[in-house]
Amino acid sequence: MSLLEMQNCDVFYGKAQALHDVSISVEEGEIVSLIGRNGAGKSTLLKAIMGLNPIASGKRMYDGRDATRLSTEMLGRSGIAYVPEDRRIFATLNVDENLRIATVMGREGAWNLERVYDLFPRLKERMTSRGDTLSGGEQQMLAVGRGLLTNPELLLLDEPTEGLAPLVVEDLIKAMALINAEGVAILLVEQNLKVPLKLAKRQYLIDNGHIRWSGKTEDLLAEREKIEGLISL
Ligand SMILES: Nc1ncnc2c1ncn2[C@@H]1O[C@H](COP(=O)(O)OP(=O)(O)OP(=O)(O)O)[C@@H](O)[C@H]1O
Ligand SMILES: [Mg+2]
Repeated sequence: MSLLEMQNCDVFYGKAQALHDVSISVEEGEIVSLIGRNGAGKSTLLKAIMGLNPIASGKRMYDGRDATRLSTEMLGRSGIAYVPEDRRIFATLNVDENLRIATVMGREGAWNLERVYDLFPRLKERMTSRGDTLSGGEQQMLAVGRGLLTNPELLLLDEPTEGLAPLVVEDLIKAMALINAEGVAILLVEQNLKVPLKLAKRQYLIDNGHIRWSGKTEDLLAEREKIEGLISL
């Protein structure tokens, strides 16, 4: 039984269809990636998973139960955390305050402020700095930390490494691996294969609202050019 299963989902913005018959699953404790170009439908799918975009037809299964009709709040309480592309840091709150707010909304579990600071020592150094003074990498760490404080079973990460310096990307890759080693499943959205190849054992390739390919990373690597061509990477 998968932790999350989106089955044959259609999503529209007005009359424009953004997702066509999309099916993806995330197994308990795995890292799986969703890769596609600008406008492919990646964020649309994450928002549909999180109940922020309505599913016109199709099904959301979570933990073996039909969760199609659950609200965003209920999905959060069920164990899904969403770290959006734009990170949504509170600009006028400092790092510690940004994190404490998340603990208020969280589920019971092993993640707490201390463990988030252990995972991201840089955040501890910047504890009293306001949100709007943080670098891109620090903002991303804060956004991930905030997600962890809800004690999720599944973390949805929308382009966490976009626009970050290579050394910061390496730090984030290590952090994602550590988070996953603690048993948190991760659905990692990226525009290219660089980070997904390092972290995920399975991949979904999306283009124009359609899943064009899915499978094991080793199978993708065996036919990389041909498969990348399917979504014009
Ligand atoms: N709120 C919206 N209203 C109308 N159309 C939208 C809305 N959000 C996204 N779209 C359209 O839906 C399609 C998929 O967009 P989406 O944001 O999911 O792409 P993406 O893969 O996340 O791209 P990016 O890599 O740029 O973040 C695009 O054609 C986009 O223009
Ligand atoms: Mg996006």
